[in-house]
Amino acid sequence: MRLIILGGPGSGKGTQLAVIQKPLGVVGISVGDILREAIANNTFLGTKAQPYFAKGELVPDDLMVQLIRLGLLQPHLEAGWILEGYPRTTVQAEELDFVLDDFNHCVDYAIYLEVSPAIMLERSLRRSRSDDTPEIIHRRINNFQAQIPPILEYYGSRGKLLPFDGTAAPSVISQQILSHVALRREV
Ligand code: AP5
Repeated sequence: MRLIILGGPGSGKGTQLAVIQKPLGVVGISVGDILREAIANNTFLGTKAQPYFAKGELVPDDLMVQLIRLGLLQPHLEAGWILEGYPRTTVQAEELDFVLDDFNHCVDYAIYLEVSPAIMLERSLRRSRSDDTPEIIHRRINNFQAQIPPILEYYGSRGKLLPFDGTAAPSVISQQILSHVALRREV
């Protein structure tokens, strides 16, 4: 099973990833956390990504596509994965499909956590991570709103989009995701 989780800043992508990966028996990958770690460790990726990350801008597609292309080749991911925070552009969505195609794999479902920009802002500010300043969060929300319509269209037109009300309680959303995915697995 290969899933992606889409949603704006603070929509609950990481929260849901942490809960659903175990029952689905697949590895969870948080792209934002990979970037944070790379920046903290001053790796090649980290130094390239840092200026964009620090401003709340998207890291350029060529870097991200390379990261995912190499990352998904790891043997422990053979049984499946859940990718959180990727893709964020249509180029990333298309490239992900190209990579998977080479191995006769595909994205099974795109989980979309719907919340309003006001909730994205409120939750992100409440969390007070060091990169969650109001200015950066506003920029991330604006970028998200600009980029998400064609991505929803991309997965929607392929019958892969599973939208969920991201304002429900976290445990309710997890249950909804698990039962939808399990149901579709049986079909
Ligand atoms: P990233 O780290 O992915 O940040 P983000 O998209 O802003 O998402 P967050 O991690 O802030 O929120 P989340 O949706 O995971 O919510 P969470 O579960 O934590 O990306 C950071 C940066 O990296 C980007 O700005 C960009 O620069 C770069 N980047 C990343 N991916 C990239 C890509 N593909 N291409 C280019 N650049 C990329 O929840 C938030 C809070 O809400 C928590 O306190 C939680 O407890 C609470 N909460 C969660 N769910 C609920 C609920 N249902 N009800 C009430 N509270 C809830």
